[in-house]
Amino acid sequence: MAKHEVTMTINGQSVTAEVDSRLLLVHFIRENLDMTGTHIGCDTSNCGACTILLDGKSVKACTYLTVRADGAEITTIEGLAPEGTNHPLQQAFHDQHGLHCGFCTPGMIMRSVDLLKNNPNPTEEEIRWGISGNLCRCTGYNNIVKSVQQAAKEMAKEKEATV
Ligand code: FES
Ligand code: FES
Repeated sequence: MAKHEVTMTINGQSVTAEVDSRLLLVHFIRENLDMTGTHIGCDTSNCGACTILLDGKSVKACTYLTVRADGAEITTIEGLAPEGTNHPLQQAFHDQHGLHCGFCTPGMIMRSVDLLKNNPNPTEEEIRWGISGNLCRCTGYNNIVKSVQQAAKEMAKEKEATV
């Protein structure tokens, strides 16, 4: 099978590798780089457990070829906040009990990062619509919505404090 050299930045680190042309980005991240915070729930673009940020946009890594990510800047859940600290969304999911088993949580959080970047003060409906591509089997979604609302408030406060 054809091999291709790819170089990308993952969580601030430059990574170069030779990969098969059909290797999916989620497998590259989990198996080649041992970053298992990005989950695989369906492999068919339905559940959102594999969501990462690619050049700042949330992407389902199970339907993205690694070769297509050549030159990209990628953030996974492991790189969302400096070691030993929590991003406001991670803190809010903890505070608001936005997770039970936690399987959907990395993808849900990465999707919510993109959502809040584009809409820092979303309504409940906008949050529900915004995370509609991410499935959770445990929480019933109410606490996830509360988590995103808490994070939105925290991030607005942080932004205010820096101006
Ligand atoms: S594993 Fe990618 S959407 Fe389910
Ligand atoms: S917390 Fe279990 S699937 Fe969402």
